[in-house]
Amino acid sequence: MEQSAVTQSFGRCSVNPKFLDRFYEIFLASSPAIAPMFRNTDFAKQKVALRSGLTLMMMYNEGNKVGQQGLDRIGQSHNRQHLKIDPSLYTYWIDSLIKTVKECDPKCDAALEAEWRTALKKGAKHIADQF
Ligand code: HEM
Repeated sequence: MEQSAVTQSFGRCSVNPKFLDRFYEIFLASSPAIAPMFRNTDFAKQKVALRSGLTLMMMYNEGNKVGQQGLDRIGQSHNRQHLKIDPSLYTYWIDSLIKTVKECDPKCDAALEAEWRTALKKGAKHIADQF
């Protein structure tokens, strides 16, 4: 099956060695609530986790069941019993990722940005709905 435009853009971002580091720089600075949550985080591991989380989001966006199951698991780890990530915080995650994509994918225009936003909102909603 052909990949969606967003999945292809994710591929271009992924070959940029600065992609994941830039995301965490932008995300941690996006709200004073966020950096303290990552004060004990091993960012080498966290970057691997983000890459796989984004891969699941791409799959979910394309209607893939395995993608949905992966986001179910992330929804559990982020819920009120575990990481306690308030649903209002997902907007920072989405906006930070969009900024990072615009820096890292030279082909990202307004139309592609809108497609990214739709895909990320859909995946983040699936995760946040399990709070
Ligand atoms: C919808 C977007 C998000 C995705 C795909 C995502 C993905 C992940 C993944 C894969 C992990 C590793 C643990 C696991 O596998 O469950 C993780 C950990 C974590 N996430 Fe998220 N996350 C998202 C949004 C957020 C938001 C909005 C916050 C906070 C504002 C957040 C805070 C954290 C924290 C604090 C950890 C643990 C870090 C540590 O181990 O020190 N996440 N996330």
